Amino acid sequence: MRVLAIMGSPRKGYGTIIMQQLEHQLKLLQEVEFEYLYLKDVNLESCRGCHSCFFKGEDKCPVRNDDRDAILNKIDKADGVIFVAPAYALHIPALMKNFFDRLAYIFHRPRFFGKIAIGICNQGIADAKKITKYFNQVANSWGFNFVHHLEIRTMPIEGAERKINKKIKKTCKVFIKALNGKRYQKPSLGSVLGFSIRKMLHRIAIDETNTDYKYWLEQGWLEDGKQYYYDIRLGIFKRIFAGLLSVILKPQFKKMFAGDPHQAYNQYLKLESLKFENVVVS
Ligand SMILES: Cc1cc2nc3c(=O)[nH]c(=O)nc-3n(C[C@H](O)[C@H](O)[C@H](O)COP(=O)(O)O)c2cc1C
Repeated sequence: MRVLAIMGSPRKGYGTIIMQQLEHQLKLLQEVEFEYLYLKDVNLESCRGCHSCFFKGEDKCPVRNDDRDAILNKIDKADGVIFVAPAYALHIPALMKNFFDRLAYIFHRPRFFGKIAIGICNQGIADAKKITKYFNQVANSWGFNFVHHLEIRTMPIEGAERKINKKIKKTCKVFIKALNGKRYQKPSLGSVLGFSIRKMLHRIAIDETNTDYKYWLEQGWLEDGKQYYYDIRLGIFKRIFAGLLSVILKPQFKKMFAGDPHQAYNQYLKLESLKFENVVVS
């Protein structure tokens, strides 16, 4: 079993202390290969906001020869991923945000199904909950089965280590159980709605040159009767909701992509979606 800890702090600090403790506890439960990926030590340039990865493909990213694909490779090989970051200025450090930005095309083309994720945030005083919630959103959107979150205060409070250890032990138990259990879980209502809205969009905006469209087609996600990314029985309530939302949103999408969808995407890329007088972006 391979576990990859993606470390978002710009230093080897409290996050490392906590993760070493977690690694120790995890290995008491089961033998795992445990790897640390320090974002501070990899070469990951800033996202330039060109949108090429979404529409033209991640291979068209203008940033070449950095470590993006090597990082992806590590995630692909892992059974479980731990997102770890401290709270900096009310949210995750820029390093980690850039990591999510650079891999943002995976929100459109999720690929990590069958992998387990957990999220950990160490904070001075506050904000960790918001961050682990964000990890949950990112991981779920990328296809992971997010099973647990852990928030830890690193202030010097009497008896803190004992409490932290208890939390870490619980986290390890949940993580190991998920890694050894059913990897493909029933999705939340939000995930089902996300799938059905995108499916509807790609069935309306047919563009053979668009990478998102091609990916969805290749995965078989645009087929009639396909209810989710993977085969799973959905409850009636979720199916009704997804159907209703599609009926409500369909006319809007049809309007948005009336004519040539390829042109609509191109207009978006060229900043022509919003037209104001007196505005010139040079
Ligand atoms: C630049 C900076 C900003 C911070 N902002 C916050 C914050 O907004 N909320 C908070 O609770 N702690 C904040 N902290 C405290 C850290 O979250 C805390 O010390 C954390 O355990 C540091 O982890 P690290 O040593 O792994 O980087 C901040 C620390 C730094 C250096």
